[in-house]
Amino acid sequence: MGEEITICKAETKDHVELRKLQDLTREQHIVDGEHAWQVWIRYCDVMKAVSDDKIVGAALGFPTKDNRVLVHQVFVHPEHTNKGIGTKLLSELLKQNPGKDHFLTTGTDNDSAKRVYEKCGFEQKEFIKGYYRPEEDRYVYEKPKGQ
Ligand SMILES: CC(C)(COP(=O)(O)OP(=O)(O)OC[C@H]1O[C@@H](n2cnc3c(N)ncnc32)[C@H](O)[C@@H]1OP(=O)(O)O)[C@@H](O)C(=O)NCCC(=O)NCCS
Repeated sequence: MGEEITICKAETKDHVELRKLQDLTREQHIVDGEHAWQVWIRYCDVMKAVSDDKIVGAALGFPTKDNRVLVHQVFVHPEHTNKGIGTKLLSELLKQNPGKDHFLTTGTDNDSAKRVYEKCGFEQKEFIKGYYRPEEDRYVYEKPKGQ
């Protein structure tokens, strides 16, 4: 008798186990984070903020299968925060897909990120308890198209 294998959709609780298996099996010469950025830049929307020829911030959005855009990353170098860069990056990212609803998640205590999202017109819609691990809660923010 051969090994019995079931193929089915991954569940939200699987993320830690998947990550570990990916580490064990990935092509060793490809750094996973670099692979992800290459894919995001080629196939999604990545906006960058540049100062003195250096990238000091970025915002990334990608389409989801329910035809929305997930804002997956917004970050600014710590020496350049609180100068409006995060807000500008997200505003420019939103312009890439003006006809689509956008959404994102953020840590419940990430006050500067929440402020940026609210300045860009996002509204807090949902609280998800234990998003990554039992003690790591997150808010879902949404910005419907045209708002
Ligand atoms: C979140 C982040 C992208 C913001 O970038 P930024 O360039 O500083 O953003 P902006 O300058 O456009 O706006 C920051 C706002 O937060 C406010 N702020 C900063 N610290 C704050 C705090 N502790 N509590 C409340 N508001 C705060 C600022 O006053 C500013 O609001 P204002 O314009 O009304 O004064 C940046 O801090 C960062 O990279 N953080 C680490 C990565 C991260 O957490 N990304 C979000 C993941 S969900």
